[in-house]
Amino acid sequence: MADPRPIRIFDTTLRDGEQSPGASMNRTEKLEVAQALEKLGVDVIEAGFPIASPGDFESVRDIAAAITEATVCGLARCNDGDIDRAGEAIRPARRGRIHVFLATSAIHREFKLRMTEEEIVERAVAGVTRARHLCDDIEFSPEDAARTEPDFLCRVVEAAIAAGATTVNIPDTVGYATPQHMHQVIANLRNRVPSIDKAVISVHCHDDLGLAVANSLAAVEAGAGQVECTVNGIGERAGNCALEEVVMALRTRADHYGCSTGIDTRRLVPTSRLVATITGIQVPRNKAIVGRNAFAHESGIHQDGMLKERSTYEIMRPEDVGLEKTDLVLGKHSGRAALADRAKALGYELDAEQLKTVFEQFKVLADRKKEIYDGDIAALCEQRFAALPEQYVFEGYELTSAAGASPTVTLHVRHAGEPKSVTITAGDGPVDAIFLAIEKLTGVTTRCRDFRVQAVTVGKDAQGEVTVELEHEGQVQRGRGVSTDSLEASAKAFLAAVNRLALGPQPRLHPQRP
Ligand code: KIV
Ligand code: ZN
Repeated sequence: MADPRPIRIFDTTLRDGEQSPGASMNRTEKLEVAQALEKLGVDVIEAGFPIASPGDFESVRDIAAAITEATVCGLARCNDGDIDRAGEAIRPARRGRIHVFLATSAIHREFKLRMTEEEIVERAVAGVTRARHLCDDIEFSPEDAARTEPDFLCRVVEAAIAAGATTVNIPDTVGYATPQHMHQVIANLRNRVPSIDKAVISVHCHDDLGLAVANSLAAVEAGAGQVECTVNGIGERAGNCALEEVVMALRTRADHYGCSTGIDTRRLVPTSRLVATITGIQVPRNKAIVGRNAFAHESGIHQDGMLKERSTYEIMRPEDVGLEKTDLVLGKHSGRAALADRAKALGYELDAEQLKTVFEQFKVLADRKKEIYDGDIAALCEQRFAALPEQYVFEGYELTSAAGASPTVTLHVRHAGEPKSVTITAGDGPVDAIFLAIEKLTGVTTRCRDFRVQAVTVGKDAQGEVTVELEHEGQVQRGRGVSTDSLEASAKAFLAAVNRLALGPQPRLHPQRP
């Protein structure tokens, strides 16, 4: 059998993924995600859009300085200011890339850019040429390529390669393509652009019709050598091609695609969890590869088949994506070493300080809950260690409540080291009362856009995980809290979001966000 064709994995969780509403990450969190992506084995990390804000610029710079194996990429529109800023941000990188984009479809040319075909080609060439003076590794994207006239797309791509683009990325910006269409777009470029072999063909598909992964795979079949994707498929609108899905499809169906990637697939689940925790965007239970039910067999017929022979109903092994086979139970007599072992097996490498914190919390949890499952340990390990300066720290509450009457709640927090309390009688129920008490105590009034509770593991004493999304003066932030007491988890989640809101809006330009 021929050697598998290597496919580069270009991760844009920190750029396109961060464009999901409410998914913004701070500098520390972005660095943490970038380090996880490097461990996962991605080839390119698109770290951000440096011109968008000073914060985006600093993050790309931090990541460029910290990452040693993957290429670190910064996005730029096709103008001098953007390109120079991106060049400056990636300068510390061992391997850096500037990604220049310019819309090419008739709709974008006419209504957004008001530019002729001639002007587009000229601008693309000028942008790539300028970027090439700053860096040897240049990616060019004709935005909305999937809706661009085939002849014009060939012309722009050829001009970009002649100007020095080393990767040409073909975006389906609005998620309009179908697999056959995408296959044709790539095949057309390969057949009609004489210099196409001088560049790597990449594909960047959005999921508006739920076809992003299928379209990316079709592009690979047609000869694309790079796939752009995000962890958990997060991204603008319906999101992007999901990294874990495209990688596992290429691996599981290597017989069909004849391709390989450099991804350590055992890190898929831990990376997915990290991104879900940091962004607050939860993974649906039935999500392929990383959803909680992805390897759960419920029907008796399936369970029977599985017991006889796993391959009857399983096309991938859970351990290959980082889901441990066992759900070993720990309890109050388990020691620090057993906890560290279990955390490591689940993909969490804690330093001594983090292990100390997690172990203390594990002991508190073991007093509340007889059996501690993998899900509980994951929830403890997923807390953000000093990711944000915590302004308000939850300390406790007392609450009295009866059906049909407003509850009375006394809430205790710590603020700048000082204890603070408030008592109110208000709200539609205990959760509402706690949220109102937090607003009173912090002085931050919010609109709650989303509130979700889910059990981390099984059983009546399972920990509840609460996520909230709050809006305050046009800013949207998310928070997460975990506890065996769902009211405590709610208070922690609400305070986490308020802490983010209290940091104030992070200044950011949205110059024609791609
Ligand atoms: O969707 C898109 O077109 C993009 C480009 C910047 C590649 O995100
Ligand atoms: Zn995109």
